[in-house]
Amino acid sequence: MGTGSYAPQTVMTNADFEKILDTSDEWIVQRTGIRQRHLVADGESSATLATEASRRALDDAGMAPGDLDLIVCATVSPDMLLPSTACFVQEALGATDVPAFDVSAACSGFVYALATANGFISQGLYRRILVIGVDTLSRFADFSDRGSCILFGDGAGAAVIEATDRPDRGVRYLKLGADGKGWDYICMPAGGSRKPATAETVAAGEHFIKMRGRDVYKFAVEKMAFLLEDAMAACNLSVDDIDMVIPHQVNQRIIESATEKVNFPMDKVYVNIERYGNTSGASIPLALDEARRNGQLGSGATVLMVAFGAGLTWGGAVVGL
Ligand code: COA
Repeated sequence: MGTGSYAPQTVMTNADFEKILDTSDEWIVQRTGIRQRHLVADGESSATLATEASRRALDDAGMAPGDLDLIVCATVSPDMLLPSTACFVQEALGATDVPAFDVSAACSGFVYALATANGFISQGLYRRILVIGVDTLSRFADFSDRGSCILFGDGAGAAVIEATDRPDRGVRYLKLGADGKGWDYICMPAGGSRKPATAETVAAGEHFIKMRGRDVYKFAVEKMAFLLEDAMAACNLSVDDIDMVIPHQVNQRIIESATEKVNFPMDKVYVNIERYGNTSGASIPLALDEARRNGQLGSGATVLMVAFGAGLTWGGAVVGL
């Protein structure tokens, strides 16, 4: 396995938000745990971030782009509605003829993409797959809506996964779920086939993310607690057997409430939301890469990933590194 991540250079702090919104550093830190987030600049996009993260993951795996059998990219902020962002990354990497497609599952995207890649490997169809999680939600955030824009940051994370015969390595548990009844908890109403872009939809701000914050909060706590318990029961794991939980970096309070609910110790939970905000599909692979690079996760470690987001969608995975 190899991992890589990339966050754009531009940083927006809570103090920067104080200049444009009726908010405060204290409110944002207390309600979310976020202190700063990285934002794309002109010339950057989901594909450029994903390409850099992928180069780093390939380097880490000691592979060349041509060694890949497949590229799967999880994103809900693609460069264009078509073609897929995965195809832009394929071209930028020079991974000629390697099949590439996107997966759309918002903040659960990386776990969905990992499950997709794992399916191809289990079937014996492909052996080496680049799995990317990338989002640039700052491009779609309404910077006049203090209840949502302060949450999001941009970033990318990538993992090169490979077929293995070792039973302690690779994906040991997967649980995916969705509930389309909750589609309007987080959505972007216009710009798709239901409501194509017009001057009116732009004027009405319908190309920005709309979010029912409190409802998302309750859903996220419930699903994270469910996934922690379900994964441990399904794999017959105790807290001691898990080296690290990597949750979707949604909100410090959500993560703490969920772990408290199921008595899971926070010292085994990786949290970097204070520096990146919620980077949606990028948050889990970015955290995974950071934890590996700072020496907190080594070969042989057991990691439990839990994610939840727009759709509604959720997903959990237990992975032996
Ligand atoms: N700064 C200051 N005040 C703010 C604010 C901000 N950035 N955002 C909202 N407020 C205000 C509201 O206007 C409201 O004021 P009022 O009581 O005068 O009406 C008050 O704070 C409480 O609003 P509420 O929405 O109930 O706050 P909250 O405690 O639920 O926190 C979120 C808001 C968005 C931080 C919280 O609901 C949350 O994190 N939800 C999950 C969202 C999420 O993670 N989405 C992505 C999922 S993948």
